[in-house]
Amino acid sequence: MRDNDYYWILYSLGIYFKTLWLAINYYFVDSCYSFLSTMMIKPGILWLGLLTPALSQSTSCKCFPGESCWPTVGNWSALNDEVEGRLIQTIPLGSPCHDPTYDAEACTALQGVWFKPVTHYQSSSSVMEAFFANASCDPFLPRSSQCVIGTYVQYTVNVSTSDHVVSALNFAKKNNIRFVIRNTGHDYEGKSTGAGALGIWTHHLKDKSILDWSDEHYQGKAIKLGAGIQGFEAIAFATASNLVLVTGICSTVGITGGYLAGGGHGPLLSKFGLGADQALEYEVIDGQGRYLTVNRMTNSDLYWALSGGGGGTYAVVLSVVVKAYPEEVTTVTNLAVYSAGLSNETYISALVSWVRNLPNLVDSGAMATFLIDRTSLLAPTIVAYGKTTDELNALLQPFYSSLIALNVTYSANTTTYSTYGESYPVVSTVISDDAYSSHGGTWLTPRASLANDTARNAYVEGILEATDLGVTALLGSWNASKKGDIDNGVFPQWRSTLIGNAFIVPLSTPWNLTSIEVAQHLLTNQVLPIFQKLYPDGGAYLNEADYNDPNWKVNFYGTNYAKLREIKTIYDPSDIFYGSTAVGGDEWYQTETKQLCRV
Ligand SMILES: Cc1cc2nc3c(=O)[nH]c(=O)nc-3n(C[C@H](O)[C@H](O)[C@H](O)COP(=O)(O)OP(=O)(O)OC[C@H]3O[C@@H](n4cnc5c(N)ncnc54)[C@H](O)[C@@H]3O)c2cc1C
Ligand SMILES: *[C@@H]1O[C@H](CO)[C@@H](O)[C@H](O)[C@H]1NC(C)=O
Ligand SMILES: *[C@@H]1O[C@H](CO)[C@@H](O)[C@H](O)[C@H]1NC(C)=O
Ligand SMILES: *[C@@H]1O[C@H](CO)[C@@H](O)[C@H](O)[C@H]1NC(C)=O
Ligand SMILES: *[C@@H]1O[C@H](CO)[C@@H](O)[C@H](O)[C@H]1NC(C)=O
Ligand SMILES: *[C@@H]1O[C@H](CO)[C@@H](O)[C@H](O)[C@H]1NC(C)=O
Ligand SMILES: *[C@@H]1O[C@H](CO)[C@@H](O)[C@H](O)[C@H]1NC(C)=O
Ligand SMILES: *[C@@H]1O[C@H](CO)[C@@H](O)[C@H](O)[C@H]1NC(C)=O
Ligand SMILES: *[C@@H]1O[C@H](CO)[C@@H](O)[C@H](O)[C@H]1NC(C)=O
Ligand SMILES: *[C@@H]1O[C@H](CO)[C@@H](O)[C@H](O)[C@H]1NC(C)=O
Repeated sequence: MRDNDYYWILYSLGIYFKTLWLAINYYFVDSCYSFLSTMMIKPGILWLGLLTPALSQSTSCKCFPGESCWPTVGNWSALNDEVEGRLIQTIPLGSPCHDPTYDAEACTALQGVWFKPVTHYQSSSSVMEAFFANASCDPFLPRSSQCVIGTYVQYTVNVSTSDHVVSALNFAKKNNIRFVIRNTGHDYEGKSTGAGALGIWTHHLKDKSILDWSDEHYQGKAIKLGAGIQGFEAIAFATASNLVLVTGICSTVGITGGYLAGGGHGPLLSKFGLGADQALEYEVIDGQGRYLTVNRMTNSDLYWALSGGGGGTYAVVLSVVVKAYPEEVTTVTNLAVYSAGLSNETYISALVSWVRNLPNLVDSGAMATFLIDRTSLLAPTIVAYGKTTDELNALLQPFYSSLIALNVTYSANTTTYSTYGESYPVVSTVISDDAYSSHGGTWLTPRASLANDTARNAYVEGILEATDLGVTALLGSWNASKKGDIDNGVFPQWRSTLIGNAFIVPLSTPWNLTSIEVAQHLLTNQVLPIFQKLYPDGGAYLNEADYNDPNWKVNFYGTNYAKLREIKTIYDPSDIFYGSTAVGGDEWYQTETKQLCRV
């Protein structure tokens, strides 16, 4: 029975309805809510088409569906047996919105939850960055428009053991098939999907435990996290034992997957360091299919690369041990200054005074997320772990005093929580980017470039110039210096960054290829160049970068690139792991149909 297509259709439909049901169920507990998606598109930008690479049928390409090399149904079935029935054939999440599987009720329900991360991370194939879904099966396009697997993975193994990972890896290698590691599908760089690929889905690797750690680099509490653990689960687990750990401000992002591997910023960054700085040890399956324990003593080169050198590039991580810290009182301020009634000069002076006070704020261990445009400065989450209301007020006082001197009014609402664990559910729901509804990129501003008011004024003018072009400037300020004994592959420019600038172009619904190309052009050719010119030494955060950046090797990895490439050669000699902006990604290209080929 297993060897026929009918079996697969029934099997996959079963999974699909189960997944959809889960997605709908989870709607009310999802925490990654955003007010950004309600912002309006500003029209009037010229469209420039993307260059299309030449078609290639050469043997230097990965085997693609439809080609004679593609495994038979029997071959897939054999893999399914090997992974204990955990192989899922992709049925795009959007299929209830299209013929021949159209279902009006299910489609409406899906549209209602489409912009929630939970809808995608509960799926074995869907991704949150619209461009990489390529409208393969978009729920907002007309019922008659295409619903194909397209750029989604063809099959996914829902892994629960290291053997499942090894089986999938070996199958992909033996059959010359593109391989994808998928955790939550948050990746903005398209690295957790791929046309014609076999994926592994790490989402259900949910083991966790508390450890006492002691080596020459760190002594203290630690937490071991399975690769599927997300921010909200990790925080709930840690705080139940009066501990905290470093996660993203968006609580649905995975920890072990792309987040920690790419650097990882969040509310505790100024206090305890980047996500990557927390890693003590990994369990992995490398590109050769070997199970390895990885830490600063054993396979230390791989430790260095996995901790900051980018997700999905060197090995499949099964688990990570991260540092844990004691619970503390945590104070959060929500601050707003509006420009209405102020002269431009006064408003800009107020913004400059905000920037002037950031080092004072972040060097105390606090961080701030803020948005600036011509109408307001909104800083809804200034988070200070270990600080009382009076202490955080004192840190903000120099800014308040400048506002008073300028005769500018402001509102500030400060709440002190008895623990970080109590603050996190609030903090993580205030600002976070929704899934699928925007296109973005970042640039980092070094602290040394904001050393006087002339320089701060240029920064503020740059932000206003960008927001005048119709993008949202979502900004974060941190002190990302090394806390303690750290040696890893984090992008070196992170250490001297004072502000991480994310520029977000809202995308309208229904999605179409033209509107996203307009957004890409605006970001790559107009917005980011403002900051690349102001801060040529800044660089980008590889997890939230512009995936069209032609200079990505330098801008995302800097001086680490050559060393990271060497380490990849050791642990992934056959280049089974690929991402267009991952280390080694320039050695491949994708054809018009997104088939992956050697350069
Ligand atoms: C709504 C939203 C909010 C965000 N907020 C933050 C934030 O607060 N702070 C921050 O720093 N970043 C944030 N990001 C960016 C985030 O760090 C990246 O999207 C990151 O890649 C997500 O990792 P993931 O494992 O959850 O996602 P996935 O898309 O599943 O995977 C991301 C990458 O990691 C690889 N990968 C996944 N699992 C493994 C594994 N087990 N072993 C090896 N490789 C693996 C994948 O192949 C892919 O390359 C946010 C992104 C979104 C969409
Ligand atoms: C695929 O299945 C065919 C028989 O259907 C078999 O001959 C072949 O060896 C299999 N290929 C692989 C790579 O397992
Ligand atoms: C991406 O979308 C375009 C437009 O619909 C289509 O022509 C192309 O084939 C798609 N690519 C893939 C790989 O699905
Ligand atoms: C994936 O596996 C987990 C157990 O590891 C199971 O609970 C879940 O239902 C599976 N999901 C799908 C879609 O098969
Ligand atoms: C403030 O600056 C904006 C943008 O440059 C301009 O449109 C506006 O006229 C200025 N307002 C005043 C009062 O100068
Ligand atoms: C950042 O914080 C560390 C302590 O965590 C401190 O030593 C350092 O001076 C601060 N400033 C910079 C620029 O790193
Ligand atoms: C501040 O504002 C008040 C009332 O709006 C006004 O009376 C006063 O002159 C202003 N002071 C300065 C220094 O601008
Ligand atoms: C202040 O913030 C708290 C916590 O977010 C909220 O409950 C309260 O309503 C806010 N108060 C005002 C006046 O905005
Ligand atoms: C202000 O800072 C910038 C950037 O560091 C520097 O280039 C410039 O010389 C400084 N200007 C003054 C007046 O100190
Ligand atoms: C694409 O979307 C934009 C913005 O919503 C719209 O103006 C345009 O007409 C759409 N183009 C097509 C081809 O549907």
